[in-house]
Amino acid sequence: MPDRHGPDRVDTGIPSLTIGDLTVALPIVCAPMAGGPTTPALVAEVGAAGGLGMVAAGYLSAAALSELLDDVEGRTDRPYGVNLFLSGPDPLADDPSGLRARALADYRSELAAEDRHGAEPGDPRYSDEEVADKITVLAAHRPALVSVTFGDPGPAVVGRVHEEVGAPVAVTVTSLAEAGVAIDSGADALIVQGIEAGGHRGVWIDDPALSAGGPRVPTADLVRTISAAVDVPVIAAGGVTDGAAIRSMMSLGAAAAQLGTAFLCCDEAGTSTPHRRALLGRIYTDTVITRAFSGRSARSLRNDFAMRHLDAPALYPHIHHLTKPLRAAATAADDPDGINLWAGTGWRAVTDGPAADLMARLTAELIDGP
Ligand SMILES: Cc1cc2nc3c(=O)[nH]c(=O)nc-3n(C[C@H](O)[C@H](O)[C@H](O)COP(=O)(O)O)c2cc1C
Repeated sequence: MPDRHGPDRVDTGIPSLTIGDLTVALPIVCAPMAGGPTTPALVAEVGAAGGLGMVAAGYLSAAALSELLDDVEGRTDRPYGVNLFLSGPDPLADDPSGLRARALADYRSELAAEDRHGAEPGDPRYSDEEVADKITVLAAHRPALVSVTFGDPGPAVVGRVHEEVGAPVAVTVTSLAEAGVAIDSGADALIVQGIEAGGHRGVWIDDPALSAGGPRVPTADLVRTISAAVDVPVIAAGGVTDGAAIRSMMSLGAAAAQLGTAFLCCDEAGTSTPHRRALLGRIYTDTVITRAFSGRSARSLRNDFAMRHLDAPALYPHIHHLTKPLRAAATAADDPDGINLWAGTGWRAVTDGPAADLMARLTAELIDGP
């Protein structure tokens, strides 16, 4: 097995990222990317290069997470983090008028009427993401950081992670208001996600009255505002694809940046072939924020599925399960028009090749400028 630890980094003058007892040599976090793109190999390579790899626990069972962490630990001794989805309450549990159930049934009929490689919509359902059981798994594995997205973990969950996992907690926020609540819950760091970000927005409430589920605030503005208001490290997420942008976020108060889209076409990523082809081949011209795939606002390339269902209801995670077989059939058929092609606004800068090369480029740009 190759030596994945390497020598300790020589002093580059780049500020390291410190959260509690965790120190990461480079201020670069590879975003957790649930649903396939994050792999143990990607997490290990980012760690080997001096950044922080994040395992995506979203959609997984607690048992599957445990196996995944065994795999990661077999590949690296470097610190890694784990990201948990906080599902929030079931939107259909509080539906006295039945309007939400009807909206879901209507969306199902709409999807069933389309020809999606012969696949039928799946059965909508709610999941609590097994957060309590996943924390028990984390207590056995002891990752260096636990991040959460889609909500306020509350002091009880933060306290459990501190006591049982022994790790700091980073909470994903998209507004100053969410930041304040996260701090009150005991967050040790904030992942400040702006409107440019690829994948799901971290908004705590996906407001159906707003096309993006919440305010459309650019990452730079949010970082400036929130880092001035809090004492914990702020990690900037959204639209960052090069070292200059990382430095720019740090000049606004960020301690590091979390990059997702930039890593999507790395050799080690588990991103599907049609997703890679859509990004690298510039098949679509732009991105859009849509609930079409999962029932939660997310930024995707502007493909046929997203554009046909711009007014899909805000019923996460029911719609995630409803569209799952359709997305799987499109992936199998190598058809990018039927897949959630998560991508941030910086998607045109995506490159392929080993993650080590991307990390080396980002590091050089951080030191020398582009
Ligand atoms: C394919 C994909 C999957 C993602 N999955 C997750 C996830 O599981 N958990 C999470 O906290 N954020 C997730 N995100 C959002 C990232 O954490 C981050 O906010 C975003 O990628 C930053 O914007 P960028 O894509 O422009 O770099 C995902 C993003 C992408 C592109």
